[in-house]
Amino acid sequence: MADRTVLLLGATGLVGGHALRRFATDPRWSRVVTLGRRPIGTAGPSHEGHVVDFDRLGEQAELFACDDLVCALGTTMRQAGSEEAFRRVDLEIPFEAAQLARSAGATQVLLVSALGADPDSRIFYNRTKGEAERAVEGVGFEAVQILRPSLLAGDRDGTRWGERLGLAVLSPLVPVLRGPLAALRPTEADDVAAALVAIAAGRPAGRHVYRPDAIREWAADPGGES
Ligand SMILES: NC(=O)c1ccc[n+]([C@@H]2O[C@H](COP(=O)([O-])OP(=O)(O)OC[C@H]3O[C@@H](n4cnc5c(N)ncnc54)[C@H](OP(=O)(O)O)[C@@H]3O)[C@@H](O)[C@H]2O)c1
Repeated sequence: MADRTVLLLGATGLVGGHALRRFATDPRWSRVVTLGRRPIGTAGPSHEGHVVDFDRLGEQAELFACDDLVCALGTTMRQAGSEEAFRRVDLEIPFEAAQLARSAGATQVLLVSALGADPDSRIFYNRTKGEAERAVEGVGFEAVQILRPSLLAGDRDGTRWGERLGLAVLSPLVPVLRGPLAALRPTEADDVAAALVAIAAGRPAGRHVYRPDAIREWAADPGGES
């Protein structure tokens, strides 16, 4: 078993939940640490879950000691209630966590972003995601992996009607979404999780961006670059 620690943020979420299950059953990681604002059931002997105050992360800096930081945090404008609150979850917390993890010795970060992320976008969501990517990239990790899934598919609790509607519209179109339109196909949340594990293990140095097709390739071929 490798002596690696992965720190996962967002483990109570759709992508994060799949990622937790995969990391916790992968012998390449001896410790899987999760930080969340509410308790989470154990995923196995390697899993160590902590409930933290996300407004006081700096006071819990020792929890950020890891090799690999995986950030699958996110919210929606409806859940957040304001642009400020949205930016807090999707930009400020990931940036602060990246700084704390880097200071504590992490050499790789994997950020779940979104297709269309662009710091210069006029669309608030895309701009915030792009700004988060840029902020995390600037922290100084040896390896920066940015995953940009399209609309996520998977079993989700609760009512996110916008996403449900998007999936209802896009899913029947999957067979005809080819060529440049293939990126619009929904991305299975568990494929994002599988890609996170495969890329984290491969740890290509430098900055890499993975669009939906690359995410699916890494998920299908965990050795990478099929
Ligand atoms: N949904 C899509 O179709 C889609 C498409 C492309 C990209 N993405 C991106 O992919 C990533 C993962 O998405 P997902 O759908 O798996 O997310 P999700 O299911 O909504 O999970 C989000 C995670 O963030 C945590 N979180 C939310 N607000 C928080 C707060 N104020 N303080 C602390 N933690 C908070 C949640 O914790 P709690 O469980 O405690 O709420 C949960 O663990 C996100 O960055 C998202 O923007 C999503």
